[in-house]
Amino acid sequence: MKFDFSYYNPTKIYFGKTSMKNLEPELESYGKNVLLVYGKAAIKKIGLYDDVIKALMNTKKNVTELEGIKSNPTYDQVLEGAKLVRENDIDLILAVGGGSVIDCAKAISVSAYCDGDPWQKYWVDFKPLDNETVPVASILTMTGTASEMNSGSVITNEEKMIKEGRVFPPSVNPKFSILNPEYTYTVPKIQMVSGIYDVMSHLCEQYFSGNDDNVSDYLLEALMKSLIFSARAALKNPEDYEARSNIMWCATMALNKITGVSKEQDWQVHGIEHQIGAYTDCPHGVGLAIVSIPYYLHVYKYGIDKFVRFATEVFCVKPDGKSKEEIAEEGIHALENFIKELGIPLTLREIGATEDMLPKIAYSVESGGGYKKVSQDEMLDILKDCF
Ligand code: NZQ
Ligand code: ZN
Repeated sequence: MKFDFSYYNPTKIYFGKTSMKNLEPELESYGKNVLLVYGKAAIKKIGLYDDVIKALMNTKKNVTELEGIKSNPTYDQVLEGAKLVRENDIDLILAVGGGSVIDCAKAISVSAYCDGDPWQKYWVDFKPLDNETVPVASILTMTGTASEMNSGSVITNEEKMIKEGRVFPPSVNPKFSILNPEYTYTVPKIQMVSGIYDVMSHLCEQYFSGNDDNVSDYLLEALMKSLIFSARAALKNPEDYEARSNIMWCATMALNKITGVSKEQDWQVHGIEHQIGAYTDCPHGVGLAIVSIPYYLHVYKYGIDKFVRFATEVFCVKPDGKSKEEIAEEGIHALENFIKELGIPLTLREIGATEDMLPKIAYSVESGGGYKKVSQDEMLDILKDCF
């Protein structure tokens, strides 16, 4: 382990089929006024809304609702929520949904009592969080982002055409999160595979950087192998509880920051995807899958030993008689085949991007990377390969 680190994650997790029984006792610890935040339709369709309302009524809460949070949540919805927090003196924001709903809840929490424009302060200038926040809690219905156990909040500013993520201090983490894998059975297939690839991408973003012997890399390999195995089982039978629960916990572990300690990280695939999302509104994991293969083919020679390790350890590529380049490329193509198995489109064209968007996307992404710093011109080349 090369770098000193501190690790603190204050989210309490309740996991499994009976995890909802913890909602009422948890609610008892918070004040009377609750803002219930949720998406467009799913939680009502699966009956979860009724269960949540029952728990809120049993604990005598005054409930204010903010529904219709979009996939890729918008800044306008954050401002709407922040206003509701102030008007109703909210004590707890309860997010019920996927990453978009939870990210939006965190953004509302930090924005409600912010002086000035929260977008400018927190998502553009990245100023330290210095105002009062409102506690957030979550009930997760779709796996992928790990928003249920981290302090990240990715918001789309539709007016400025920017999708930007911000990592806040751990005080913004959900105080508790309820994770019942059965709630994910009804997630549409494209969202299910998008979530699975999001997890894979989180693992890759942390893995493809640095060359030291680091326990985090072994953990990342184990999570990748478990994810691939469980994804295949869930594709065959979406109601395979073991597979869905493994995917759910793998997703949480992949970005609750435990696997990233003491490690250099990449995150350029996410940087590019966020801007693709701003222009096309595609599911997050779909955009990541499209960018990944051209990106890794572009950079792998700068971190060849790690790509060889990935090929042999994660996808069991046989190294005998092959050059490092051949082994590394076979590993990247095995990842491509996994994306095909998931049934995710492999080109930007298929998700509605047009050629004129490519420079706009490339030149609005901040240049960064793991083994190689990728310039905006290179990003344009990568996007052309994705097109
Ligand atoms: O709107 P509803 O009706 O809720 O439908 C949702 C939505 O359409 C549906 N869904 C969720 N649970 C369901 C369900 N449908 C049926 N049954 C259920 N049980 O699924 C759709 C997608 O939901 P969404 O929350 O948008 O997906 P996801 O969890 O992938 O979140 C994506 C957002 O999170 C950000 C992404 O950029 C994107 O904006 N991320 C957040 C991160 C973080 N906080 O650390 C990191 C990630 O890398 C990511 O950037
Ligand atoms: Zn992601």
